Amino acid sequence: MTESWDSIADWYTEQLRSGSPMHDFGRDILLDRLPADLRGASVLDLGCGEGIITRALAARGASVTGIDPAVSLVEYARAAEKFRPTGAVYAVDDGCTLATVPTGSVAWVTAGLSLNNVPDLGAALRAVRRVLEADGRLVFTVPHPCFEAPHSTWTEGGEAPARRVVGDYPAEGFWRSANPRGVRRAGNQHRMLSTYLTMLIADGFAVEVVDEPAPSPGVVARQPHRAGLPPFLLVGARRR
Ligand SMILES: C[S@@+](CC[C@H](N)C(=O)[O-])C[C@H]1O[C@@H](n2cnc3c(N)ncnc32)[C@H](O)[C@@H]1O
Repeated sequence: MTESWDSIADWYTEQLRSGSPMHDFGRDILLDRLPADLRGASVLDLGCGEGIITRALAARGASVTGIDPAVSLVEYARAAEKFRPTGAVYAVDDGCTLATVPTGSVAWVTAGLSLNNVPDLGAALRAVRRVLEADGRLVFTVPHPCFEAPHSTWTEGGEAPARRVVGDYPAEGFWRSANPRGVRRAGNQHRMLSTYLTMLIADGFAVEVVDEPAPSPGVVARQPHRAGLPPFLLVGARRR
């Protein structure tokens, strides 16, 4: 079966809601770059999935909308909102157009592990720029492009700790993991780190933050081989 975000929605939601140190880490490093108090701020969470980041933004007082093209994930996000209301609202939408989001309507756009799924990064960045207020900010994470390049693996066996084996770094474009338990069996758009930064600058953003946070103790406890490499690249940029 060819998987999609809709077809793995049950699995993905279960992963996060049963406790995923990696996803908690991804949420926390992104939120660390936003004000602790977001009361009065409008925020768009692009590629919200089942709403892990959207709910956290609402808890900080933001007026937040989560968008995602995967209908099943948006249904999970809405069900969580119904069960425990936070004020977050959700829409089915594509990050490449943001057709449901008015121009100049948000102060912040967050995109946690989602821009590596959009097929057209330039279109997504232009859509983000359109919906941001003047001086609004985009903060996003992606799987670290240098270490999570297509078909990266780990060394196996022996006494030494497992090491990342990476090739195909310049092979930009869509690829699908063969790992039946891997999230990227739903597909992933690989781009080089330089592509993210160059396109941001070309599409009207001033890059303010580039970070490669070390994995949290919780991530390393669950996946010891992750120690020593940053799982995610984090970028913050201001609309010029
Ligand atoms: C790894 S999940 C991240 C979800 C959520 N932000 C989180 O941290 O759990 C990637 C998300 O990107 C979404 N996505 C895929 N294509 C997209 C697009 N064109 N525009 C916006 N989001 C997209 C998927 O549906 C999925 O929810």
